[in-house]
Amino acid sequence: MSENTSGASSFQAPKGVPDYVPPDSAQFLAVRDGLLEQARLAGYGYIELPVFEDTGLFARGVGESTDVVSKEMYTFADRGDRSVTLRPEGTAPVMRAVIEHGLDRGQLPAKLRYAGPFFRYERPQAGRYRQLQQVGVEAIGVDDPALDAEVIAIADAGYRSLGLTGFRLEISSLGDASCRPQYRELLQEFLFGLDLDEATRERARINPIRVLDDKRPEVREMTAHAPLMLDHLSEEAKAHFDQVLGHLDALGVPYVVNPRLVRGLDYYTKTTFEFVHDGLGAQSGIGGGGRYDGLMAQLGGQSLSGIGFGLGVDRTVLALRAEGVTVGDSGRCEVFCVPLGQEAKSVLVKVAAQLRGAGIRTDIAYGDRGLKGAMRGADRSGASIALVAGDREIGEGNIELKTLADGVQQPVPIDSIVGEVTARLASRI
Ligand code: HAM
Repeated sequence: MSENTSGASSFQAPKGVPDYVPPDSAQFLAVRDGLLEQARLAGYGYIELPVFEDTGLFARGVGESTDVVSKEMYTFADRGDRSVTLRPEGTAPVMRAVIEHGLDRGQLPAKLRYAGPFFRYERPQAGRYRQLQQVGVEAIGVDDPALDAEVIAIADAGYRSLGLTGFRLEISSLGDASCRPQYRELLQEFLFGLDLDEATRERARINPIRVLDDKRPEVREMTAHAPLMLDHLSEEAKAHFDQVLGHLDALGVPYVVNPRLVRGLDYYTKTTFEFVHDGLGAQSGIGGGGRYDGLMAQLGGQSLSGIGFGLGVDRTVLALRAEGVTVGDSGRCEVFCVPLGQEAKSVLVKVAAQLRGAGIRTDIAYGDRGLKGAMRGADRSGASIALVAGDREIGEGNIELKTLADGVQQPVPIDSIVGEVTARLASRI
């Protein structure tokens, strides 16, 4: 048996899976909660979904030809030999739950928000993880351009509420059932006339719009004059898109129309958008979404429209770091108790519980380290007040209250210690 003498763990987190540990985890929590706060204020109810679902839900909902379904799913047979998949995204599961629980028969739009981990077997790199965290919203059952604008504005306000500024919103329309099929043919005709390699021709056969997203310069050059969906929208889809932009203008949400915007999932119709941050390198998409008017019917539900977004929590944390913005509560304690003796410990343990009960973050030195070691702990904790007592002070009915910034110390009767600490902390605000 080999012994691990380095002190390091023999295990590591799975490849491409990030840990968030203190103090950085404070940023993670602040981003996850902050991004959804605007949705809560706009009436989006919380939905908690399973982390795995029937594989068929994603195959049918997200699309067999997408990279997400064809290459990136964590799919396995459970012990009952059912094929299940760790959710790669949230929209199809939300639709499934809405149909299953009849939310589509209540007040519309059904507005829902969610947060949690998603799983994609992608090649790990900076900002691209195999377990990724998203927050999302879905608004189902009303096809109103003002609702598209609301969803987009919630995302925009979410990023801004965290102090993020270096991002832009790219927006486009993918048309609807009355114009997309014709456009698809037109685009295919154009693409088949080009000198494309076999894999790209195949993509042009299956999902031609994705060829417009090819990052290789030679393909970009060849497709520079490809027909664009935005120039071939039906009257209805065009009016819808113009109204979405009008509402965004009225809301003061800045955007850039990008007619070549392509999303990686098949269910989108009409409005599609992406939030892009330039401080992140290749994985610049910090969030994205759009309308998916055929998805619910595709999954066996009513024919209802829907719109939503998924925002990448991990990438937003990275984007904030790139901008030098810190968010979140460091979780530091305000008070640190230093008991020197068993009698003192049982009193200070109780005082700590009372302070916590009063909402004051309080830690205590465990392990009988002696005065010097314990005071070092107090300094490191970041607390502003230390409560120090030996058995002698306790016998006299007192605890020493020390303000750590200036080292000033004074005895306070045990009975009034909670009141005194509360008053001191309050007077500092
Ligand atoms: P998505 O664009 O695939 O959309 O993912 C949304 C966001 O999740 C991305 O913009 C990105 O920030 C983050 N993300 C995706 N993959 C990774 C990864 N491997 N590592 C780190 N972050 C990642 C959806 O999932 C749709 N369900 C969004 C939606 C909701 N559309 C309508 N409603």
